[in-house]
Amino acid sequence: MDAMECLLGRQSTPAGMLAEPAPSDGEVLSLLETAMRAPDHGALRPWRFLSIRGGRRRDLGDIFAAALVKREPDAGSDEIEKARGKAVRAPLVLAVWSEIVENHPKVPPIEQVMATGAAVQNLMNALYAQSYDAIWVTGAPCYDENVKASLGLAPKDVLVGFLHIGTAKSVAPTKKRPNPADYLHIW
Ligand SMILES: Cc1cc2nc3c(=O)[nH]c(=O)nc-3n(C[C@H](O)[C@H](O)[C@H](O)COP(=O)(O)O)c2cc1C
Repeated sequence: MDAMECLLGRQSTPAGMLAEPAPSDGEVLSLLETAMRAPDHGALRPWRFLSIRGGRRRDLGDIFAAALVKREPDAGSDEIEKARGKAVRAPLVLAVWSEIVENHPKVPPIEQVMATGAAVQNLMNALYAQSYDAIWVTGAPCYDENVKASLGLAPKDVLVGFLHIGTAKSVAPTKKRPNPADYLHIW
């Protein structure tokens, strides 16, 4: 696939529309070569990826459910099951975070998070180039210290999201995109 075709063709697929096949962990490793090419001030390599598939997605669902109950002790069973179910929609979930170097003399945490975001976008494009589909989601679990701790993050680290990955069950209509002229100012 031509690079511009990839960049202009990629669009997200709702997690519930993602099915097998998903890339194997070997393929993920290979695709992550693109993430390693993200702009990265200070070469801190802040990005971290955790591959969660098969039955381990249920462990992630349990983490989401337990965190919801701690956040909202009055949550009903429907809400708890909904939170749990968010982990098992797509065949592969990649949790992505920035392992933050604190008090760096030149690279504040926001730059480390931006570098991780750029790594994610490279990966999203690479997935599309290899005919996989994906969506980047955050939601309350992303900002929950209990979820972070359960995934092995320190409080200083920033969970930037969960990438739900697979193959779209059906071809989604092409989304209309904004006109770049509305976003460019020229001095
Ligand atoms: C940091 C970040 C967090 C996001 N979180 C969510 C989310 O929790 N739920 C959701 O439906 N979309 C979320 N999105 C938006 C989707 O990933 C996607 O960009 C959106 O559905 C538009 O699709 P597109 O990528 O085809 O433009 C998030 C995007 C970003 C960059």
